[in-house]
Amino acid sequence: MIRRYSDRTLPRELVIALLEAATRAPSPHNRQPWRFAVLTGNARVRLAIAMGERLREDLTRDGVAPEQIARDVARSYQRITSAPVCLLACMTLRDMDVYSDERRNAAERWMAGQAVAAALQNVLLTATDLGLGACWMCAPLFCPQTVIQTLGLPEDWQPQALITLGYPADAGKPRDRRPVDEVTIWLDN
Ligand SMILES: Cc1cc2nc3c(=O)[nH]c(=O)nc-3n(C[C@H](O)[C@H](O)[C@H](O)COP(=O)(O)O)c2cc1C
Repeated sequence: MIRRYSDRTLPRELVIALLEAATRAPSPHNRQPWRFAVLTGNARVRLAIAMGERLREDLTRDGVAPEQIARDVARSYQRITSAPVCLLACMTLRDMDVYSDERRNAAERWMAGQAVAAALQNVLLTATDLGLGACWMCAPLFCPQTVIQTLGLPEDWQPQALITLGYPADAGKPRDRRPVDEVTIWLDN
């Protein structure tokens, strides 16, 4: 993940290329439950402020020290507003199947969420291919109504993630991964 960006603007064609890659993702019954809002200029600032207020409320309720809260809120604001483009990814259940029982409805929601995540992984891989940096931010999941109201989104768009995008200002911090052996079992009967 790249969390710091240069001032260089991101051409619209590249954003469209990322969206094209996103929408090539697989989805259950090919229902394509992803929706995107491309945020530039003041739109991303408004969102950063609104989500920052919600973060402040949550952390205050948790009893976190005010200085720490101020640092966390400022860091989130800085990350979002220093990216020339932010891609808000939402999920809609509008075209998904509806069952008579909650077990299958829950599975349907998971499937839609998995499809959105697959679309976002395409965005990350394509961004890397194009020499861009990107970072997946989970903040919208924690305050979906705030995001919908701040941006005036349709009510069925369920915010899932914010992807910050831009030309990288640094190489980012490579993070370790658990060895494959630790996270895999092989079964042959
Ligand atoms: C669902 C999801 C939510 C994430 N949320 C955040 C986030 O809110 N802020 C952030 O800086 N990184 C976030 N990340 C990025 C992870 O921190 C990052 O992928 C992980 O630490 C491994 O680092 P790497 O991808 O740079 O190798 C998120 C990643 C995923 C898949």
